[in-house]
Amino acid sequence: MIIRAQTILLLRVACISIFALTLARPAVGETLPAGTAPRERLSLDAAWRFHLGNEWGTGENLAKAGSSTGPAKRDFPDSSWRTVDLPHDWVVELPFDEKADGSHGFKPVGPGFPQNSIGWYRRAFALPAEDAGRRLWLEFDGVFRNCTVFLNGFLIGRHQSGYSSFRYDITDLANCGGRNVVAVRVDASQFEGWFYEGAGIYRHTWLLKTAPLAIAPDGLFVHSEFKNNRPEGTPKVRVQATLRNGQAVPATPIVRIQIVSPDDHIVATAAKSAKLAAWSEAKVELTTRITAPSLWSPESPKLYRLLATVESAGRVVDRSETAFGIRTVAFDSAKGFLLNGEPYVLKGTCNHQDHAGVGAALPDRLQYFRVARLKEMGGNAYRTSHNAPTPELLDACDRLGMLVMDENRLLGSDPANLARLEEQVRRDRNHPSVVVWSIANEEPMQTTPAARQIAQTMQQTIRDLDPTRPVTYAADLGNVFQGINSVIEVRGWNYHIGQAMDDYHQAHPLQPNVGTEQASTVCTRGIYANDKQRGYVSAYDDNAPSWAHTTETWWKFFAARPWLSGGFAWTGFDYRGEPTPYGWPCINSHFGIVDACGFPKDNFYYYQSWWGERPVLHLLPHWNWPGKEGEEIDVRCFSNCDDVELFLNGQNLGRQTMAKNSHLGWKVKYASGALSARGYKAGRLVAETKIETAGAPAAVALVPDRSTINADGEDLSVVTVSVTDSQGRVVPVAANLIDFDLSSPGKIIGVGNGDPSCHEPDIYLSKQPSRSMPLDDWRMREVPNPKNRPETAEDFLAADWGKADVRAEFGPLAPGASAVFRTRFSTTAEDLAATRILLNIGMIDDDGWVYVNGHLVGESHDWSASPSFEVGKFLHPGANTIAVVVKNNANQGGLNKGVTLEFQEPPVAANWKRSVFNGLAQVIVQASHEAGEIKLTARSPGLADAVALIKSQSAATRPAVP
Ligand code: GAL
Repeated sequence: MIIRAQTILLLRVACISIFALTLARPAVGETLPAGTAPRERLSLDAAWRFHLGNEWGTGENLAKAGSSTGPAKRDFPDSSWRTVDLPHDWVVELPFDEKADGSHGFKPVGPGFPQNSIGWYRRAFALPAEDAGRRLWLEFDGVFRNCTVFLNGFLIGRHQSGYSSFRYDITDLANCGGRNVVAVRVDASQFEGWFYEGAGIYRHTWLLKTAPLAIAPDGLFVHSEFKNNRPEGTPKVRVQATLRNGQAVPATPIVRIQIVSPDDHIVATAAKSAKLAAWSEAKVELTTRITAPSLWSPESPKLYRLLATVESAGRVVDRSETAFGIRTVAFDSAKGFLLNGEPYVLKGTCNHQDHAGVGAALPDRLQYFRVARLKEMGGNAYRTSHNAPTPELLDACDRLGMLVMDENRLLGSDPANLARLEEQVRRDRNHPSVVVWSIANEEPMQTTPAARQIAQTMQQTIRDLDPTRPVTYAADLGNVFQGINSVIEVRGWNYHIGQAMDDYHQAHPLQPNVGTEQASTVCTRGIYANDKQRGYVSAYDDNAPSWAHTTETWWKFFAARPWLSGGFAWTGFDYRGEPTPYGWPCINSHFGIVDACGFPKDNFYYYQSWWGERPVLHLLPHWNWPGKEGEEIDVRCFSNCDDVELFLNGQNLGRQTMAKNSHLGWKVKYASGALSARGYKAGRLVAETKIETAGAPAAVALVPDRSTINADGEDLSVVTVSVTDSQGRVVPVAANLIDFDLSSPGKIIGVGNGDPSCHEPDIYLSKQPSRSMPLDDWRMREVPNPKNRPETAEDFLAADWGKADVRAEFGPLAPGASAVFRTRFSTTAEDLAATRILLNIGMIDDDGWVYVNGHLVGESHDWSASPSFEVGKFLHPGANTIAVVVKNNANQGGLNKGVTLEFQEPPVAANWKRSVFNGLAQVIVQASHEAGEIKLTARSPGLADAVALIKSQSAATRPAVP
C-alpha cells in the first residue's frame, strides 16, 4: 500500500512538471467516473430477421429520398422470416454441390447460383428520446460481400468487399423516441478470393452512441517509442486523439489520458486542450512516459489500457478506452525479425477464417480456441491470409500472445482500396500483436512498374497512419527484384526455397526478408496412403504440390538462415475450399497442420518438437492394421529428444539419434499390440509414449474443452467426440454416425469431424412444419374511398358482387380507385390448433387494410411487399370472412399474386448428428442467457452413450441493443 502511494506521488510530481503548462487538473491516482461518459457501444447481434432470396430486387428507389422498396422499407412485414443471431454465414447451411466452384468448397453460391447468393437481414430497434442530439453510428465488422444498408427506408450506404469493417453515421435519420429498422441486402454473387468465403453478416454489428463532441470512431492511436527502438530506459508513450465536433458551435475541450498498467495501476497521465471550429475535426497529440514498463511478447502478453476523456465546459462529454502493449519490432536484413530488440524467429502459420461447423461466422471464443491450439503447437505468429481479420481475432492474439501479420485483401491504390486499407490500419494499429502489415498476396502484376507504384502508395499510406510497423508483400517469386519487391520494406517469400533465396539475399543485402508463405504440405488426419477416389492424402510428411514443400524441407531451410526471420506455414488450420491435390468428393483443403476442427495431424508434433521447448515424443501411424500382420509398416517419430528407442510389444527395435529439425524412421513388421518409444535427452529418459491396437468400437466419449462457460449468449464449449473401444482407447479407424441431443440452457451451433471429403451438414436448422390453404372465391366491389367501409363487417353480404381473380399479376383498379375484396372460407378446430396462423398476401397494390371477421389485423402500404399477418386469434371454427380494402395510387392496382392461410405447427428441434472421422468429431455448444447445466448426450447404435455436463454460469452480458 505504502509503496504504491509513493509511486503514485512520484508520478504525480513528474507529470505536473512535464505538463504544467497544459494540465489543469492532474488526475494521477484517480479513476475516471465511469458513469459520467455518454459513449455507449451496444451489440446489435441478436435477433435479426433473415431471408435468402432476391424476390424484391435491390430495394433501392433512387428517385426520392427515403422511398426504398421491399424489405428496405421500415414497415415491411418480416415476421415470417427466420430469426438469426449474428455472426451468421448462410453458405455453411447450404448443401454441397459438385457443380459448384471447388476452390470455394463446392457450395452452391456465387456465379451460377443466383438463388443462393442474395440475402436480406432486418433488425428493428427502439431508440430512447434522450438519444436526440447524440451522434449515432451503425458499425459492421464485416459483411460478405457487397451490401446495401438502409435505415428506416433510407439508403445509408453501400459497401464493397467482404473483409473490411465499415460504419455509417445515422444521426440524421435515426428516429429517437421511436422505432427504427435497419435492413441490409447482402449480395454474394461475386467471389472476392479463391477460397471458401461464406456469405452474410458474418461478423459483429454495433450501435455506437457518442456526444456531438467526441473522439472519432477508431480515433485513439497509442504507441510507445524507445530510443533507437531498443527497449531500454523509459519509453515515451505517444497518444493521438482525433476529436470530432459535430455541432454548430466551436469547442475548446480538454483531452485527458490515463494509462493503466497490466496490474491495474494508473501509471501515467497527461492532458491537453484543443480548439475546434464548428463541424470540424482535430488531432490532439499527447505524450507521457512509463517507467519500467512490462513489455508485451507472446511469452508474456502484458496489456496496458489507455483511458481518454474529453471535457468540455467542465463536463466529461466522452470517455473512450483502448488496450495496447509496449514492445518494439523491427526486421533486420542480417538478424531477421527482432522483438524487443532481440532476434525472434517467427514460427508462424497462415490461416483463413472459417472453422468446422460454423463456416466464416465464428463466435469470439472460437478465435481463442484456435489461437490457443496454434500456440500449443509452438506457433508464435499468425498471418491473416488474405484479408483484414475480424477484430476479435486480434484481441485473442493480444491476450494469448501471438504475433500477427495483418494482411490487406487486394493490391490497389484506387480511392476505394486505399480507404479500406486506411480503415484497417486505423482499426488495428493499437493491437500489440500486430507486428507487420502485408499489402497483398501473389498478384500476377507484381513485377510491373505499375505494381511498384501502387505498392509505394500503399506502403506510404500505412506509414502515415502507423510509423511503428514495417510493411511486406507476399511474393511468389524467386530471385526477382522488380516491381513490388524493389520497393517493399520487407521482402516476403511465398515458396521458392533454394538457391534463388540465397542469391537474392546476396544481391540485396540491406533488404530484410520474411517467409510470408511456405510449406503447403498436404496431409489428411489419420490417413496413411494417398486415396484419390476418396480425396485423402497420406499424413506422412511426404506430399506437397509442385510449388510447395514438405514440413521438414521448408523448416530446415529457414532454421538454417536467421536472416529469413522464420516464416508462416500454409496453413495452421484446414479450411473449406481449395481441395488439393484431388477434387470432388474432396471439398476441403489438406494444407492444415491441424484439421478444420483443430485436431492435430501428425505434422503438428514435428512443429511442436522444433518450435516448442517441452520434450515431445510422437509416433505414427496408428497401430490398427488387421490383415497386415507380418508386413512392413513405415513407422516414424517426431521428437526433440536426442535419442529415441522403439519397442513393439516390449521387444527393442533399436535406438536412433535424432538430427535437429528432422525425424526418425523404422520399418516395423506389423503385429497387433503396443508400439512404444522412449526418448532421452543428455542420456536421461525424458519422454515415453505408446500406441496400442484398439479393439472394436464400444462407446462414445465426450470431452468439453471447457466445462464451465458463461451464460452470456455467446460463450461456448468445444466438445471432442470420440469412439472408443471397451478399454477407452480411441478407435483410429472408426466412422460411426453419432446422434446428439442437447437439453437447455444452450444450443449446438455446429458440428464437424475434420474429414475433407465429408458431405454431411455442419448445421441442422430446426424446422417449423406448415401447411397452406389457398384462399380463392373472392368478390370485389369498387368503393368511393377506403375509409370506414361497412363492407368489412363479418356478416356483410357480398353475394351479388363481381368475382375477382386475386392470383393475377396485376389488379383491375385504375389510378385513384378503391375497392373492397371479400372471401368466405371454413376452418376446423383442428386447423385452429396450429401454433401460428399467417395470412400471406402476394401483393397489395398500393395501400391496403386487412380485416378478418370484421377485425382490422393490419395494413400494408408497399405495393412491392408480400405482407403477412398473424390472424389465429381472429378465426373461429366454421365460416370466416376476410375483407381487404385496397386503394390504388398509380398504374393498375388491386389484390394480386395469390392469398393463402398458412398453419404453422410447433417447431421440430433439429436432430444433430455427425460421423466421427478416424475416431473423432466435434460439437460446438453455445450458452444461452440462462444459467444452468447444459447436458449433451451422444448416442450411436451398438455403442454405449456418452453424456457431457457443461455448467453455464451467470455472467455479465455485453451491453446490447434491446
Ligand atoms: C498460394 C496462395 C494461397 C493458397 C496456396 C495453396 O500460392 O497464396 O492462397 O492458394 O497457394 O498452396
